[in-house]
Amino acid sequence: MKKWDLYEAIEYYRKDGAPQSQDALIALLRELQEENDDVLPSYMIKMIADKMEVKESFLMAIIKRYPSLRLDSAPNYLEVCGGPNCAKNNSAKLMRFIMEKYKVESGGISEKGKFAYKIGGCMKHCGKGPNIRWNGEVYNKMDEKKLVQLIENGKLE
Ligand code: FES
Repeated sequence: MKKWDLYEAIEYYRKDGAPQSQDALIALLRELQEENDDVLPSYMIKMIADKMEVKESFLMAIIKRYPSLRLDSAPNYLEVCGGPNCAKNNSAKLMRFIMEKYKVESGGISEKGKFAYKIGGCMKHCGKGPNIRWNGEVYNKMDEKKLVQLIENGKLE
């Protein structure tokens, strides 16, 4: 079965009328929660707000109105490309480093709650791997040093 993908889900519900249609927006949030161990990852709410050009506070207000919707607490999101071309550029080394330094596996939250982590699919920057996404933005040719910088300072020097 094909893996669930937030960007595809956003596109799907956008065609269905979101964010203007609140029903479509709520259906997206429900699906998001279902696909993520029954919680809404807050970094994904940020991404939805960004992609749909609505305020994050608008989405938060909707989530509050529906008690069945529940938010998690990690403020950042790290995704490492698990695609075959990044694998050739040794993405496995990066994944091992993340697991050892931040004590987190794909689908989990880092030791100090700083970021949620996932190994995702191809980011379509195959020639420049290994690639990661930090809060929705793709960074190429990632190594341990740059990654720590991003996680600790939120940006590269
Ligand atoms: S395989 Fe990593 S970006 Fe395509």
